[in-house]
Amino acid sequence: MHHPLVETLLTQRFRSLAAVDCPVDVYSWLVDETSMTARLEAHCQQLKVTLVDEGFVTAQRLSIDERNALGDEQGTQRFWLREVQLIADGEPWLAGRTLIPEASLQGPEAALMNLGTRPLGHYLFQSSFLSRDYLLPGTMDGLWARRSLLRLAEKPLLLTEIFLPASPLYSPLAEGSSPCTLQTHQK
Ligand code: PHB
Repeated sequence: MHHPLVETLLTQRFRSLAAVDCPVDVYSWLVDETSMTARLEAHCQQLKVTLVDEGFVTAQRLSIDERNALGDEQGTQRFWLREVQLIADGEPWLAGRTLIPEASLQGPEAALMNLGTRPLGHYLFQSSFLSRDYLLPGTMDGLWARRSLLRLAEKPLLLTEIFLPASPLYSPLAEGSSPCTLQTHQK
């Protein structure tokens, strides 16, 4: 099942939030630096990546905050866009949007354009050249989300992940997990 609004959701404004605004259980998901695919896999039988959109885009497809994060304030660069959904046992659990400046795709990183339905994390986490500038917990359109600026061999890529309503983050065990009542902070 495809989340009907996923394309629109992924272009909503990212609002970062402080730890105090977030239940502890939820926060632990949002700031988890290990593989999110592996963590979600532990909660279902089968997790699949489905492609929503993939290909080169100009800066017009980026929000201002995405351009700023990737150092393209003028809006002159081209980017590889990858939008996916993680489907767990038929239910959409996570929407991911990755933006990679064209200049980051030189050398072995060109493989990032050929991932298809293989999870991005499998590629990233096996690389010894992976580092992270930041991992921001936040919300997007009332859903829990996070944004990471990653570097592969020093070259940046921006990953935004939105936890969709069916994901285990919102289960009753994650007490008080509705983000709609939160005060969010703008960064
Ligand atoms: C992806 O394959 O693009 C992907 C997979 C898992 C995530 C985010 C993105 O958590």
